[in-house]
Amino acid sequence: DEPGTELAVVSLPSYACQRHTPLLHHNTVLIDALSILAENAELSENEGRGVAFRRAGALLKSLPQEIRRVEQLRGQPCLGDHSLRVIKEVLEDGVCCEVETTKESRQFKAMKALTGIFGVGAKTADRWFREGIHTPSDLQRSGHNLNRAQRAGVQYYDDLNQPVRKAEADAIGLIVEKAVSEVLPGAKITLIGGFRRGKETGHDVDFLITHPEEGREEGLMAKVVSWLEAQGFLLYHKTTRNSYLESKDGPARPPSNMDRFERCFSIFRLSTENERRITQTISAQSTLLHSRTEPSPQTNDQAREESSMLSQCSGSRSWMAVRVDMVVSPYSQFAFALLGWTGSKLFERELRRWAVHERAMTLSSHTLYDSTKRQYLRANSEEEIFALLGLEYIPPCGRNA
Ligand code: CTP
Ligand code: MN
Ligand code: MN
Ligand code: MN
Repeated sequence: DEPGTELAVVSLPSYACQRHTPLLHHNTVLIDALSILAENAELSENEGRGVAFRRAGALLKSLPQEIRRVEQLRGQPCLGDHSLRVIKEVLEDGVCCEVETTKESRQFKAMKALTGIFGVGAKTADRWFREGIHTPSDLQRSGHNLNRAQRAGVQYYDDLNQPVRKAEADAIGLIVEKAVSEVLPGAKITLIGGFRRGKETGHDVDFLITHPEEGREEGLMAKVVSWLEAQGFLLYHKTTRNSYLESKDGPARPPSNMDRFERCFSIFRLSTENERRITQTISAQSTLLHSRTEPSPQTNDQAREESSMLSQCSGSRSWMAVRVDMVVSPYSQFAFALLGWTGSKLFERELRRWAVHERAMTLSSHTLYDSTKRQYLRANSEEEIFALLGLEYIPPCGRNA
């Protein structure tokens, strides 16, 4: 054995919110294998199994070194028999049979393709799969009645299944910032979700909007959406009103983990020209942008010609569709909203589980309730919330569980 591989790794704490989970880690192959099984469980609506594989994967992401032998994991939490079996097989044989079978299965492939349509969840995809619909093209041919979200999902399928890059997120950030400042001066926006955790790509871009004067944020989303729509930035939007203020007996606990902020799930029309101009404005040292429609090692004329040809023959063009989520929170709940919308989803789940099981508290994106003291606890920053929960502060870049 090479020296070092026998070194026992210090046993990590079991809740993901008790440790740092960086974006870049040392056990990618093992984590990829576990992620396939997690994804398959989620698509089969076996949530518990999905969470078990996700927790195991997150534990491996927190390890400071590459694992070569399964014995090195002795004493670590979060690793159930099934996950350990998968890890052992990958370490010994390079692949795990169950993972390979899953990846190749018709059902898994179809479920991934169908849930890749915006507006389509596991239940709907499963129903369609049983009817013999395996791809978005099958779906289009089937003549099924689709709702508005799903129609947009099919229409922009290719764009929405391309990763959104940081430069595009920044370009959209400037547009949303402009919209917000036009309709309510003094309101501020914060980039949340994966990009706040330091990711370089994402499946969408998430923003949290608030105003330092409590109450001024009411009805803000409708105005922002109207402005964006009038400017031609929106291909699709669905706004949900705030249902939190309406509950009579104070800030009642949300019935599910879903929060009740005013929000908008949307699809932006991002002009690549616009993106380029905006990005150049933000970063003085001009980044070389690799546009999706125009290959870069070409003269401008060639590129323009090709882009106009593309727009004529294949519908490819100088803009792209990008999923954008916007949430509005009252200033007094901002810290909770920020923590709740920065993710990752597993990190959030772990925070809530820690709160309930270790502190007898209920955490939501609105507030923290202490069941022992029978009172709501206020906080003005994420740091304060971690402190109230008795946790060491984990910055966003350490929340990539
Ligand atoms: N979220 C939520 N309620 C929803 C949707 C999302 O509270 N209905 C929260 C999630 O808990 C997560 C954050 O919003 O913390 C961002 O969700 P999402 O955009 O789905 O995931 P990201 O972590 O941003 O990953 P990606 O980069 O793929 O977008
Ligand atoms: Mn996101
Ligand atoms: Mn409209
Ligand atoms: Mn999102």
